[in-house]
Amino acid sequence: MRKSYTVIHYYNEIVRFWNKLNFIVKTNIKDPDSIGIDKISEYLYATYRMLWENASENDIINELKDIDKKVLIKLKSFSLNKNLANKNEKEKLSILESVPSFMIDHLLSVMNIDFFKKNIKFMNGLENEIEVTVRINNLHENLSFKEISSKIKESLEYKKIVYREDSDIPELLWIPRSQKNKIIKNSLYQNGYLIFQDKASAAVVEILSPRQEDVICDMCAAPGIKTSLIAQRTDNKCHILAGEFLTERANLMRFLLKKLNVLNVHILNTDSIIFPIRFQNYFDLILLDAPCTGSGSLLNNPELKWRQNKSFLYQNVTLQKKLIESALKLLKPNGVLVFSTCSFYPEEGEYHILEFKDNLIPLNLPKWISPSYKINGSSIPGTGRLFPSVHQTQGFFIGKFKKKE
Ligand SMILES: C[S@@+](CC[C@H](N)C(=O)[O-])C[C@H]1O[C@@H](n2cnc3c(N)ncnc32)[C@H](O)[C@@H]1O
Repeated sequence: MRKSYTVIHYYNEIVRFWNKLNFIVKTNIKDPDSIGIDKISEYLYATYRMLWENASENDIINELKDIDKKVLIKLKSFSLNKNLANKNEKEKLSILESVPSFMIDHLLSVMNIDFFKKNIKFMNGLENEIEVTVRINNLHENLSFKEISSKIKESLEYKKIVYREDSDIPELLWIPRSQKNKIIKNSLYQNGYLIFQDKASAAVVEILSPRQEDVICDMCAAPGIKTSLIAQRTDNKCHILAGEFLTERANLMRFLLKKLNVLNVHILNTDSIIFPIRFQNYFDLILLDAPCTGSGSLLNNPELKWRQNKSFLYQNVTLQKKLIESALKLLKPNGVLVFSTCSFYPEEGEYHILEFKDNLIPLNLPKWISPSYKINGSSIPGTGRLFPSVHQTQGFFIGKFKKKE
């Protein structure tokens, strides 16, 4: 019996490489519909184990008792290049990189094909040694960040956990992804001194630049990773109203904020499109980390790959537009809005800014953020992007603006 985390691992990897695995299995099995879903699943798993993890036919036979060795041999020696010869370039790319054709169609207008492939490869986990970022949380003890940080680093060294400091965000440490489990089991993580946070997510708060005197609305806040960094950056002193539509996610946030000793957040389980009227023209800063297609987060959420389509995109775009309208009502004149999405699509970033540009004054972003896409040959001030292949982060759009008086 396999342990549940191993089952989840293989489930995720089969979903991640669905196009490629499905093509290999279906090409090798004469009448796939007649052998039933359980058998097909076994062949998908066997193909993954043999072609991605170099398992032998005998390893598979030991794991899955009544599996046909002849089929396994065919699967193992399958030549993708030969079998893809009569497909067009888009079909080949979709199968070889296991990427939905919608993403190919949609993104090749804003990035060249090599850059597109590099980003997809990164999100397929195919880089040699992927690292993840963990954030030091100093809200538990009355010590300076420097003091807590050196205590934590000493403890990591003692446990032989390799890390390196991030060059842009002082709270972040990079560790090899292979050491993630060591961190999860470590008491520093369990007691809320460390929390996993993608650098792109931390960059959003870096760009927000909260101050202790600010009244801040984090409109789409759960599970509260960015909210907690806002609290940390202001030593629990600013006022944060954190809105979240889903009750379960609001509860998750409550739990996380408690674990990290965040003390300055009021959680509002609400639809942030219809905030109470008394909050209009109220906030100094608004973070709108909007719900989106998640097309930039496929490394962590491979199942989202196969939800990428036109209606999913426009469902999110419509929601984001209403949330931006609401943000502009809630913000004080001259207040600052940071808008972000973990998406590659210009519709979930640049196009929104163009639509609302008459109400917004662009503000500068740090130099290490990449420029956003040019739309009709023009760049859009106040906006930038992070890319997996450039920054080793999720794909993110970030914009920072002042509301016009
Ligand atoms: C991208 S996630 C936010 C991640 C969060 N900022 C963080 O760093 O942990 C977007 C969140 O918005 C919530 N959401 C979606 N529609 C909403 C709405 N109309 N009002 C408030 N929250 C909403 C989703 O349930 C989801 O939790």
